[in-house]
Amino acid sequence: MKVLVIGNGAREHAITWKLAQSPQSPELFVAPGNAGVAQIAENVPISAEDIPALLAYARDSFIDFTVVGPEAPLAGGIVDRFEEAGLMAFGPRQNAARIESSKAFAKQIMKTAGVPTAEARAFDTLSEASGFVAENEPPFVVKADGLAAGKGVVMAETREDALTALRSMMEEKTFGASGETVLIEEWLKGPEVSVFAFVDGEYVSTMTTACDYKRAGDGDSGLNTGGMGSFSPPPFWNESLEQQAREKIMEPVAKELARSGSLYRGVLYAGLMLTASGLKVIEFNCRLGDPETQVVLPRLQSDLLEIMLATANGELARTAVEWGPTAHVGVVLASGGYPEQYRIGFPISGMDDIDESTVLFHAGTSHGDGGVLTSGGRVLTVTASGASIEKARANAYANASRIRFQDRYYRTDIAKGI
Ligand code: AMP
Ligand code: GLY
Repeated sequence: MKVLVIGNGAREHAITWKLAQSPQSPELFVAPGNAGVAQIAENVPISAEDIPALLAYARDSFIDFTVVGPEAPLAGGIVDRFEEAGLMAFGPRQNAARIESSKAFAKQIMKTAGVPTAEARAFDTLSEASGFVAENEPPFVVKADGLAAGKGVVMAETREDALTALRSMMEEKTFGASGETVLIEEWLKGPEVSVFAFVDGEYVSTMTTACDYKRAGDGDSGLNTGGMGSFSPPPFWNESLEQQAREKIMEPVAKELARSGSLYRGVLYAGLMLTASGLKVIEFNCRLGDPETQVVLPRLQSDLLEIMLATANGELARTAVEWGPTAHVGVVLASGGYPEQYRIGFPISGMDDIDESTVLFHAGTSHGDGGVLTSGGRVLTVTASGASIEKARANAYANASRIRFQDRYYRTDIAKGI
């Protein structure tokens, strides 16, 4: 079987690595891929967002199954285009992907399904949104409705901060059309957890959980990034939270999506906050998380290819989805300056000098003169396992310190004190 994975991050390397372990021995292709996936698959130089070129490639190369990693092509309707052409793809269709690509749509689904989430109001004009801020007490969370690569959320402590964010999104159009509608939300407090399940219509598979770190610096200082580290499973997660997440959040949302004509097939990712009054939804995503995938897929004991095919075929209920208990910690090695300006093209050393506990998932890497070079902001995720989160953390950092490139930086507090 020929399988095409779409994307170029460490998440897609982890997906490809897990697919490569399938007893079905698929022939693997990744578009556009990186130097890491090139060791186990063939890289195809097509951007993850060029849907017509991906479709033409899949058709001409007789690809049997396509797995979509990032949200942008899903929101752009890649699965619909592939299905119209008679090709099978893993991920939700465009109308179901709105659970991530429109925060107002997600709130509407949650409201109808009675799912606990932050109180929110949607606004289409700056004057109405400003009026709401004037009449209510801070703090506020201001969010662009559409996709904004994780940057469309402003935590506003004061009315002044909220108004600045609203003007930036609605007047200056910092996020383009994504900010034409904004949401103003209640600010929730508590630990965050990402919950993942494979969903095929109303059926929700066994779930798994992870925590990620979004800020660039230790102690959650600095700018928001695509994610600087992660661990799984979170020790505070238990049977009762599992049941709450399944029965009050994942199943009602899947059911409401199906009922309202946006049947969901793919990975459903709920970003939850454990508040004093129970679990509440911060957001939904329509795909696996990055960098959570890098600590979650090594725990999957079942055949990922079989699960993904069954999800796409509507046969998931008959397929095993089993997660092992071993602790995993992932530390992202980034280029100095990321998420702002950074330099690339530096040789990476020490990648052969890692322990058995550890796997390297590549993101911004490419082949060049002198071997593997840095080619992006986030360069590698160093994932290590251990008998506890503390031991996995020690393994991850021991291995991370051996991998060197100019301007390398990483957070030193991933999974600390958990
Ligand atoms: P999002 O893009 O919706 O995931 O938001 C990014 C991050 O902002 C989340 O992971 C939270 O840490 C934070 N955040 C978003 N919405 C809220 C909220 N209503 N209350 C508290 N924190 C939030
Ligand atoms: N870990 C955050 C995300 O994948 O959106």
